[in-house]
Amino acid sequence: MPGKEKSASNDGLMNPFNPFQPVKPINFVGRTDALKVFFKKVGEVQNNNVRIIFIRGERGIGKTSLAKYARVMAERQFGIIGFHLFLGGRTGPKTKTEFIYSVVEKMIQAKSAVASLMKRIREYFEKYIIEVDFGILNIKSKELSHSLPKNGSQFLKFIQKFTEALYKGEEEDKGIMLILDELDSVGLTPFFSDFIKEINDTSASEDGSNHRILLVLCGTDFVYNKIIKESHRMGNIMKVIDVNILEENEVKLFYKTTFNRLQIEILNDALDLFSDYVNGSPQLMQLVGNVTFDWLNPREPNRINYQIASEGVKLASEEWGKKFLNRNQYEFLNNDEYKYFSSVLYTMETEIDFSEEELFNKISPSLINKAKNYLEFLSDMGVIEPLREKGGWKFRDKLLSVYVQNIGFIFLKTK
Ligand SMILES: Nc1ncnc2c1ncn2[C@@H]1O[C@H](COP(=O)(O)OP(=O)(O)OP(=O)(O)O)[C@@H](O)[C@H]1O
Ligand SMILES: [Mg+2]
Repeated sequence: MPGKEKSASNDGLMNPFNPFQPVKPINFVGRTDALKVFFKKVGEVQNNNVRIIFIRGERGIGKTSLAKYARVMAERQFGIIGFHLFLGGRTGPKTKTEFIYSVVEKMIQAKSAVASLMKRIREYFEKYIIEVDFGILNIKSKELSHSLPKNGSQFLKFIQKFTEALYKGEEEDKGIMLILDELDSVGLTPFFSDFIKEINDTSASEDGSNHRILLVLCGTDFVYNKIIKESHRMGNIMKVIDVNILEENEVKLFYKTTFNRLQIEILNDALDLFSDYVNGSPQLMQLVGNVTFDWLNPREPNRINYQIASEGVKLASEEWGKKFLNRNQYEFLNNDEYKYFSSVLYTMETEIDFSEEELFNKISPSLINKAKNYLEFLSDMGVIEPLREKGGWKFRDKLLSVYVQNIGFIFLKTK
């Protein structure tokens, strides 16, 4: 029986959605324009240039996923060798010395599926590695520290020599792509602008003119502005790629292909519902997919209809709410007095925005001050934000709107 077969294979299905990890290249969607810019820069690099890209976007918007995908594609199509280095965000290196050490250490430890490449990396840094035990390396930190470049100009030459070693014996040097991700702490430190400028200026000077290096920085607006503030010239040196929300058709394509690969069909009204709720956010898109899949998997249906999609959205909103709020905030919202206001929002059939006037009209005048507190608190938590027109509010996203109203709905039912 076909049903039986499916159940056997379904048991072992891995959930392909993950809201908290960069997407695997096979599940990547969208970003066509960004990728064009990326590959254009790879081409320029292969014509003996150094290029610097800044992938800019808010938290969780898909910077790392884009860099990861672009690297894989550039390796495949252009033969460039990529390194994706995570500098540890706010807890990362804070001085120039720590930064350079960290970058080189991560390059030594980089994993590659290409065994010959791993071998060359190891050989090149041989002097600084004590032990190679099942792929685990110990680095002689003292020796390494002494031999490290001290500024951007030396760093460039260091990378150039390393690149030559990687391509030794090959027909052609196809260049190197260094992705510096999670650079919040370095990016916020004054030396960083100078360091990047030194790289740029050395490469522009004659003795640096045949480098093939693509440097990719990933960071938020905040980090970018800080770098620019240190030196306005940085605005011309870095090519910015902005990462924004996904288009509706990209979200739909993502669900269709990811579910179809699992032999699960998704009906159009379910797709509309998903896309409406996630509103282009790649993280919410993964979250809704993730909980829907978990809900679906033991039940084994091979089609997602509107009812199943609604269930998925509701479960996702609970997950999102819990993730979004800390304990105090959670307790605040689940306090009986405030649950009442959430239930009023529910009866107002709020989608994403609402007016406080309507809320105040629905409650007794003696509760208006308390309702104001409630709104202020939601606003402080970042769950709602004020609209331009006075007294207007907007939920941060539809899942949080559902989350808050669901608390109100349960309150009404159990009262
Ligand atoms: N193009 C995409 N296609 C599918 N899913 C994506 C895409 N971009 C991002 N995602 C998903 O969105 C979420 C956030 O992505 P990612 O970690 O790349 O964002 P980020 O901007 O690097 O976040 P942070 O600021 O926390 O470093 C992840 O769950 C990832 O799987
Ligand atoms: Mg990231």
